[in-house]
Amino acid sequence: MKMKKILAGLLACAMLASMAACNSSSNKETQAASGDLPLIGVTIYKYDDNFMTYTRTAMENAAKGVATLNMNDSANDQSKQNDQIDTLIQKGVKALIVNLVDPSAAPTIAEKAKAADIPVVFVNKEYPEGTDKIDYDKCVYVGTTSEESGIIQGELIASAWEANKDAWDKNGDGKIQYVMLMGEIGHPDAEARTTYSIKTLNEKGIETEELANQSATWDATKAKELMETWLGKFGDQIEMVIANNDGMAMGAIEALAGNGYFGSDGKYMPVFGVDALPEALDLIEAGKMAGTVLNNPLGQGTACVELAVNYAAGKDPLDGTEWTLDDTKAVRVPYVGITVDNMDIAKEAYGLK
Ligand code: GAL
Ligand code: CA
Repeated sequence: MKMKKILAGLLACAMLASMAACNSSSNKETQAASGDLPLIGVTIYKYDDNFMTYTRTAMENAAKGVATLNMNDSANDQSKQNDQIDTLIQKGVKALIVNLVDPSAAPTIAEKAKAADIPVVFVNKEYPEGTDKIDYDKCVYVGTTSEESGIIQGELIASAWEANKDAWDKNGDGKIQYVMLMGEIGHPDAEARTTYSIKTLNEKGIETEELANQSATWDATKAKELMETWLGKFGDQIEMVIANNDGMAMGAIEALAGNGYFGSDGKYMPVFGVDALPEALDLIEAGKMAGTVLNNPLGQGTACVELAVNYAAGKDPLDGTEWTLDDTKAVRVPYVGITVDNMDIAKEAYGLK
């Protein structure tokens, strides 16, 4: 049943992808000729984020021929984002797509939009209390079910651990001694991934021992630094690296490679991430990363533009789309576990296939 749902979601995304492709080839002239495409204001929490960069590209592709996007980099500064929203409202945008800097700022943004009667589609950073708790009828959320990524990551780790226990359980105590690289504190994805990956392992009867757990704010460079510190402090006691996203997993892998791992002598460390970034897929293929979870940028980027375009036309946001809202006013794009055996699914979602 669940699998069916996931497949249906993927199919919908694949269809959307081909639709977007058709639009981009046939609609350039229409766009130039009509010039009356609805203006949609977009703010991205920071451009310097691997996953959001792919999501941004998906938004731009989905908008071709149907909307003009005024795209803004909020540079990880919520007050800057608030100013950008004010400016976009003054410019007369017909709808807003907001990737918050601080998830708890959702009600403040909604209040501004409500005063100007402009609908809002929040994307990727979910208001922790639920979008249905925001006092504005014209606002929805597009993202994922955060727990799902932690559960899938936990399941991936569990089966990999069972298959490789002899080599991976370095001290032979049957437990996984791990270090955890967390995303932004307070970000629902980061909190849920951290909790549910470990909870899932423990529920499957696999014991774990946390050697360290710290936020590297989704960032590869910060993760590399933390990993260097942890290698110095714990060395061979570390049996696994669990990262809330691939960017941080990639940073950890760089630190590990610089400390003699993944070389010709076979020294190995299992590293798990989330997102299924093309760069991470390359590392999986090269045997330097153990697994990841697809966080679908095409699905999220396309869905938020479709909903905003509907809103801009005064329609129901879901009108004519494949998407549905749950009871918290959220569209949930499914996650999928990725290993070396099913990478094509991820390649499609990142436009590589
Ligand atoms: C997560 C994603 C991270 C980062 C974050 C930003 O969903 O997995 O890599 O992009 O969103 O909000
Ligand atoms: Ca152990």
